[in-house]
Order: sequence, then structure tokens, then C-alpha cells
Amino acid sequence: GKTQKICVIGSGSWGTALARLAAVNAAEKDGFDEEVRFWVRQREIPGKGLLTDIINETHENARYLPEMKLPDNLVAVPSLTECVKGATLIVFCVPHQFLPPVLKELSQPGVLTKGARAISAIKGIEVDLKNAEIYTYPSILERKLGLPCSALGGANIALEVANEEFCETTIGCPSAEDCALWEAVFSTTMFRVHAVQDVAGVSLSGALKNVVALGAGFVDGLGYGGNTKAAIIRIGLLEMSAFTKEFFPSSSPHTFSHHSAGVADLITTSFGGRNRKCAEAFIKSGKTFDELEEELLNGQRLQGVITSEEIYGFLKARNRLDGYPLFEKVYHICKREMDPKELFEGI
Ligand code: NAD
Ligand code: 13P
Repeated sequence: GKTQKICVIGSGSWGTALARLAAVNAAEKDGFDEEVRFWVRQREIPGKGLLTDIINETHENARYLPEMKLPDNLVAVPSLTECVKGATLIVFCVPHQFLPPVLKELSQPGVLTKGARAISAIKGIEVDLKNAEIYTYPSILERKLGLPCSALGGANIALEVANEEFCETTIGCPSAEDCALWEAVFSTTMFRVHAVQDVAGVSLSGALKNVVALGAGFVDGLGYGGNTKAAIIRIGLLEMSAFTKEFFPSSSPHTFSHHSAGVADLITTSFGGRNRKCAEAFIKSGKTFDELEEELLNGQRLQGVITSEEIYGFLKARNRLDGYPLFEKVYHICKREMDPKELFEGI
């Protein structure tokens, strides 16, 4: 077949960890151009120079994936259009709040290569409140860029993946050909890739579990133990799968119950994720989520609080809040409109 050229849009902790996996595979497997590019938003690091120069010289992304040696064939590129030039496989991994300007730039004529394919590793959704509509990122990428788009999601805390601790991920692809290509891009002995033909289910579960993980963090903040957290996880999983069944009826219930993108991702995020961490501190400290994001995450970005607001707005617009009491309560607690202990009433 033809030689595939991979690029990764995003260089936060997960973007960098995925770019690292892709670069390892591009160097080892047949059918890939060895050079993998990733888009790094340019910054001047005081006294040290430009961030992309530093990454390309030290082969480390010190802020987002410290002490992790990146392969020499992974190249940081500050210009988005330069980064995607010639790419046939494009991985999207920016926090969802920053995607709109990226899409605008990439949808200019001549920027993307004809026949290119995309995959979204973004955990989030987009809601159109005026029309009471909800969209997954693969569907947005397909519509705005005209590329067939897959989804990647799983129990994948970035640092653990980068450290090569064994884990699984799920890719949801529109065709068997996409499944085979993306599996080759990411799969290693320690990063086990399972493919399903359910793009929406994989993408949606990554968004919804962040809302449930806030609930799990509230449990920690209140000082309760594993029983309570397990209850929130179980109830949350039911709301996640009910939501999918109601609003994305063509996606498979198996994605939630059997695959890493569903139940496994919910578990790891509820114990080791950033949403959990900030939600615990939100209860204990009385600070705002914006303050906690700055204080605790060192430049990383929270997804769950925005997603909770989006899901709440969508359900309200559809007049369906009564079907999703946990999602609704997490929203009100995030807004400090509800005593956190009320989380357990009526769910
Ligand atoms: P991150 O939170 O670690 O880092 C934030 C990133 O956003 C940085 O690359 C930063 O340069 C960039 N950024 C900050 N301000 C920006 C702006 N104004 N415009 C454009 N970019 C800006 O990022 P991440 O964890 O790689 O998140 C990407 C996606 O991956 C998210 O949807 C997240 O939910 C998902 N994800 C993350 C993990 C994880 O463990 N970190 C695991 C699985 C999925
Ligand atoms: P957090 O954003 O809560 O850290 O979750 C990371 C994740 O998605 C793990 O799969």
C-alpha cells in the first residue's frame, strides 16, 4: 500500500503521549513515513528560547510529560498548516475548548491532503443550544474538514501510558480499513488496541465519563469511601448508557459495558484523573474551578466542568433533565447552587 504520513494536532499530556506511540510505530512498522510531526503552540520560555526548539533539541516536553524521552523521529512544529502538510493520517488531541480556531485554519483550501483520514482523541462534545442539538467531535471533523473520522478513547491516564504501563484503548472506526490503519498507528505490546465500528459511542463515553468523575471527586471531597464512589460510578455508567441510547440510538451498548472507552475509562478517571482531583479540592477548598485548574494542573486543562454545563444545557433544552439526576446534580454542585451532600438524594 501507500506510505502513510502521521501528524498529531496537540501537545498536551495526552497529545504528546499519543504522538510518542505513533512515532515509535512509524519507525518500526512498514508502510509509514518515519517522521511524525506534532503541533506545538509556540511559546517563549524565559531564558531558554522557543518551546518547539527546546522540544526538538532535548526530545522532552518538560511541562506536559516531564522526564519522558521522546523518539528522535517525533518533530515539534509550531505552524498548524506546516504540521499537516502531506499528512494522510491526522490525530486530533487538543482540549475541546481550543478546537474551533484549529478547524478554521485547517478548513482553508489546499491545507489538507486529499484522501487523508482523521481520528479524534478529544474527550468532549459540542452542543448547539439554540437548536437543542448535540454533536460528537468525529462528526464535526467529518463535516467541517471532509475527512472520514474515527474516535479513540480508553482508560488512558497520559503519564501511565507514556511510562509503558500495560493498558487498553478502544478505537471506533467507520470502516474496517480505518480500524486496521489506526490500530497499526497506536498499538504496541503494552498499549492494547481494540477496534469497534461505533465511532459515536467511543467519542461520547469519553465526554460523559468526565462528568461522572466530578461526582467521584465530590465523594472524595466529602470524605466518603470506596462504597460511595462505586455507587456513583455504577449510577453514572447507567446514565451514560441511557444518554447514548436516547440520543445516539445507532451506537452500541457494548461500547459502555465491554470496552475500555466505557467502564474502564470511567473507573480510572474516577480514581486517578484531573477531573476527580479538582472536584475533591473544589469541595475541600471553596475555590473556583478556574483557580484550581491554575493551581493544581500546571497548564493542563479540565474538560468535565465545561462538559457538565454543555450536557445540562442540552438536556434542559430537550426537557429531559428528569431522566439524568446525577448529571443534573453534578452541574448544580459545580455552580455552587447545591449542597454537595444532596448529590445522593434521588439518584
Ligand atoms: P492537557 O490538558 O495536558 O494540556 C493542555 C493543552 O492545551 C496544551 O497542549 C496547551 O498548549 C494547550 N492550550 C492551552 N491553551 C490553549 C489555547 N488557547 N489554544 C490552543 N491550545 C491551548 O491536554 P491533553 O490532556 O493532551 O488533552 C487533550 C484531550 O485529550 C482532551 O480532550 C482530554 O480530555 C483528552 N485526554 C487526556 C488524557 C490525559 O491523561 N491527559 C487522557 C485521555 C484523553
Ligand atoms: P482526566 O481529564 O480527568 O485526567 O481524565 C483523563 C482520561 O481521560 C483518562 O482516560
